[in-house]
Amino acid sequence: MTAESRILELRAELDQHNYRYYVLDEPSVPDAEYDRLFNELKALEAEHPELVTADSPTQRVGGAALSAFSQVRHEVPMLSLGNAFEENDLREFDRRVVEGLDLPAGDLFGDGAAVDYSCEPKLDGLAVSLLYRDGQLVQGATRGDGTTGEDISVNVRTVRNIPLKLQGEGWPAVLEVRGEVYMSKAGFERLNQAQIEAGGKTFANPRNAAAGSLRQLDSKITASRPLEFCCYGLGQVSAPLADTHIGTLEQLKAWGMPISRELRHAAGVAECLEYYRDIGARRNDLPYEIDGVVFKVNSLASQRELGFRAREPRWAIAHKFPAMEELTEVLDVEFQVGRTGAVTPVARLKPVKVAGVTVSNATLHNMGEISRLGLRIGDVVTIRRAGDVIPQVMEVILERRPKLTRPIEIPKECPVCGSPVEPTQLIKRGKGKEVVSEGAVYRCIGRLGCAAQLKQAIVHYVSRRAMDIDGLGEKSVEQLVDEGLIQSPADLYRLEFEQIVDLEGFAELSSNNLLDAIKASKKPSLARFVYALGIPDVGEETAKVLARSLGSLERIQKALPEVLTYLPDIGMEVASEIHSFFSELHNKQVIRDLRERGLEIQDEGGVGVELAASVSFAAFVEKLGITGVAATGAKKLADKAGSLDGLIRLSEDWLDLSSMKGINEKAKGALREFFVSENTQRARAIEAQLLDFGMHWSSEKKVAAGLPLAGQTWVLTGSLERMSRDIAKDKLESLGAKVAGSVSAKTHCVVAGPGAGSKLAKANELGLKVLDEDAFVTFMGKHGIAI
Ligand code: IVH
Repeated sequence: MTAESRILELRAELDQHNYRYYVLDEPSVPDAEYDRLFNELKALEAEHPELVTADSPTQRVGGAALSAFSQVRHEVPMLSLGNAFEENDLREFDRRVVEGLDLPAGDLFGDGAAVDYSCEPKLDGLAVSLLYRDGQLVQGATRGDGTTGEDISVNVRTVRNIPLKLQGEGWPAVLEVRGEVYMSKAGFERLNQAQIEAGGKTFANPRNAAAGSLRQLDSKITASRPLEFCCYGLGQVSAPLADTHIGTLEQLKAWGMPISRELRHAAGVAECLEYYRDIGARRNDLPYEIDGVVFKVNSLASQRELGFRAREPRWAIAHKFPAMEELTEVLDVEFQVGRTGAVTPVARLKPVKVAGVTVSNATLHNMGEISRLGLRIGDVVTIRRAGDVIPQVMEVILERRPKLTRPIEIPKECPVCGSPVEPTQLIKRGKGKEVVSEGAVYRCIGRLGCAAQLKQAIVHYVSRRAMDIDGLGEKSVEQLVDEGLIQSPADLYRLEFEQIVDLEGFAELSSNNLLDAIKASKKPSLARFVYALGIPDVGEETAKVLARSLGSLERIQKALPEVLTYLPDIGMEVASEIHSFFSELHNKQVIRDLRERGLEIQDEGGVGVELAASVSFAAFVEKLGITGVAATGAKKLADKAGSLDGLIRLSEDWLDLSSMKGINEKAKGALREFFVSENTQRARAIEAQLLDFGMHWSSEKKVAAGLPLAGQTWVLTGSLERMSRDIAKDKLESLGAKVAGSVSAKTHCVVAGPGAGSKLAKANELGLKVLDEDAFVTFMGKHGIAI
């Protein structure tokens, strides 16, 4: 089969899976299989960039950032809806519809003639218009003021369940679909968690998160956000789709458009009210937020007859639910201790009913959140409760601040174990200097000596994705810790039948099962074990990277923070957490005890290709953080110096350094002053560890064996926009390739940017593999190299 036909086959198959998943809600394959097909398509497209089309499922990654959105005029205005807050408002609406349509009015017993209505949830997101021409998505726009919106075409293409092309056939040449882009509750939680971890700003609610994500000038950010679309109507169309609103939506669904699973008919206002109550009762269980339901007259002929009043249709209405936000008073702030010792403030509130549930606590996340809110004890605040999510304090109502309020102070001692509470340190290394500042997160330093941390550490250690020890729930862990049977994870391996069988909830069989499960967990993979340790900021992915890249627990334990930053997605802060975790005596002891009690961690062997590939001497020089020395300068210095000794010599050799081209005077000055004793020692320690881990400086041409491109010759031609040619060369060399200046039959691959001329022509003539810049970046990404 040719690459082209395989590409077409894969796209059709992926489109079909997407349709089954997003529209029919009946996934047809496991995620892993989908990923496999998707990766196969991505790889084929990287090899054949000329076959990439705009409607390929791979093209949802966002494009170059814009400086502003352009404007889009809506051919058919995007209107809003009138609201009903009470049952009577809805009855009033129905009466107007009945009257407007000249139907017989209701008698004493009925609710008037039973108008056929459609019922849909009112999603809380933002309205968008999607324009399809001949079945292809050509434009996306926001509602704006209803007449003119913003062109967010690139952004909407990144929303996973918006079809890039319609399925089936028979669609009108011009079809404008309207609906809501929103974020699910789970997606919102994930996003905010990630924002907190990255030190970014959190979003107050899924609506704001959806709006903030969609209206990004940098659509790559949009692509990384969990947005979804639900279609609820049409704008301009070149031919009608059906006679009714529901018929129209069903036709759209058949063409691949996601519509609400909750769409229903209602005969008359009584059934509308039933629908309202039913959805209201299920509101918290729905995976997305809704602020009401929308009723529409189903017959399109009747809709036309009723027409509009001002900017609202007479044939539709939004029946709102009670608000999720309420005002209350902060009575006190207490502190809870989490697994990693983070001391989290929790607001104790004057109990208040929010959408039917009494709320008396709200999380405040960390001290940063308290200062962002400007909160004091005694303040009146808005709180928001959404589904199962812990209630949040949204804002302080300053106008209502009482005379006597108290500031919120972080306790000096842990409320559980009495150990000191200290701010976490944010370490930034720049200009060769370490800058340490206090973070917003405070921690109890008691570690496993603190009962709160110990309990949660054990629960994490035994959890399914960590050591997978079945049969030990939170309650049992609590008992084991409170009874003094467990003081560290290592004590699990000393538990005896007699100790367990007497615990609440345990009997003979369950005790034996637990002991078997503990025994069975004694040979964990390195990644599982590192994850199970519960190092702050080290989730499963980071644990995998550490295991894959460093290969053994010994190397992970002794890795210097600077060396860890060579690994994908590990920055200085996470690196410092890892390093300080393993430096702590207590943790070292736990690991020793675990080993003594028979734990055999399955090492992965040598140092992985990710680390080998990302370490070049140029990268090392760049990471030293010499003022004014960025990637290109570092490369020049590295080429000239060849090793750390060479660089130190160069910094002392006035003449040699002065005559160097391509490095500015400021950088030269900084280099001359850089190698004071402290920096020299540090640099030597890092270099020594990298070499100890089996790295070689590629500029010394002692390329580490087994590099993926070893023995290959590559040629770079034309201009590259996302990196300089020097950097591209450096990265290729770090994977073991040789980079040559001219194309020959021996060339493996040519990277051609815009303006490529004779070299590209020759490559084509010789039938060589050619990558454009995007394909090159994707290719490098596959080898763990981010550009
Ligand atoms: S119909 C002319 N249906 O609510 C009718 N709107 O206040 C136009 N919305 O801007 C809207 N879910 O963003 C309609 N099922 C639904 C909806 C819905 C949410 C939003 C939409 C619109 C606003 C109207």
